[in-house]
Amino acid sequence: MEIRIVRNQNPKQKPADNELGFGKYFTDHMFVADYNPEKGWHDPRIVPYGPFEVEPSCMVFHYGQAIFEGMKAYLNKDGEAVAFRPFANIRRLNRSAERLCIPQLDEDMVWEGLRTLINIDKEWIPKSKGTSLYIRPFVIATDNSLGVRPSDTYKFFIILSPVGAYYKEGLKPVKIYVTDKYVRAAEGGVGFTKTAGNYAVSLYAAEEAQKKGYTQVLWLDAKERKYVEEVGTTNIFFKISGTLITAPLNSGTILGGVTRDSVIALAEEMGYTVEQRQLSIQEIYDAHEKCELEEVFGTGTAAVISPVGVLNWNDNIIEINGGKMGEFSQKMYDLITGIQYGTEPDKHGWIEKI
Ligand code: COI
Repeated sequence: MEIRIVRNQNPKQKPADNELGFGKYFTDHMFVADYNPEKGWHDPRIVPYGPFEVEPSCMVFHYGQAIFEGMKAYLNKDGEAVAFRPFANIRRLNRSAERLCIPQLDEDMVWEGLRTLINIDKEWIPKSKGTSLYIRPFVIATDNSLGVRPSDTYKFFIILSPVGAYYKEGLKPVKIYVTDKYVRAAEGGVGFTKTAGNYAVSLYAAEEAQKKGYTQVLWLDAKERKYVEEVGTTNIFFKISGTLITAPLNSGTILGGVTRDSVIALAEEMGYTVEQRQLSIQEIYDAHEKCELEEVFGTGTAAVISPVGVLNWNDNIIEINGGKMGEFSQKMYDLITGIQYGTEPDKHGWIEKI
């Protein structure tokens, strides 16, 4: 596959690592490919990062046919650019594509596009501890039409953003508001995909929670409003009497996180029992009452491991592990980031050199 390259003649000044935050800065180039039924995916190219023109009737603006992924590249201890389980994300992008009636992407095109782009913008990979280059591949529907139907044409992009911690709290435990008033996803819907609409529907509840002083919302199942599902931007784990419990994926309402999957594999290797099962919010509060709720943490590409210090369910507020990051969460954060930065052995072959 030949990738056309147009170099940016006006490279930007790079931000200092301590100013990064999450998703505020973008590198000098982006990868783009187009789709139409005659040519399939074609004209893969790297061009200067910047605006592009579409008509106001462009379908993505009206019916939200859009999917995305999130992954990260790191500089390992030898100064090489590496990515963590990128093919797991590429496969998930295609699962989202299928559900949203978007044509499948060629895995090689995505990987070659990503590698070529990161090598061109390699200087943008930040070097400080806790930083990385966030990779955002996404597809949008581009037909100019107001009929409700799948678009015939699409654009695929990869953009890159040097990032620090996702939450301003960093590794300080976050406060989570449990909502049984709003729902994120119902069985038969698109909860398992990374489509823009899943994030749009989360905003109202998240804003309400933020006004009350909480960082994020914990969603319960849509039917009974009883079982924990996931947090706005992460999957969630509960450590109760030494056992790790997280929601199962079989309902189709939960995003199958790559970090979630990695935590399960690593925890089992450490000798922990991991249960993927329905867990009611009442069971969590009962465990807290009996002093058996040891740790709660979110997992995600952007947030990595995000400890939870406080839960509020209908104004019943509980503090977890004295509001401090737990021992297991810290160990898991150190192990996963160690594998990513190359200071811990990569026993699973999760690291791909770029
Ligand atoms: C990620 O963890 O990569 C995400 O996509 C979460 C969020 C920033 C949308």
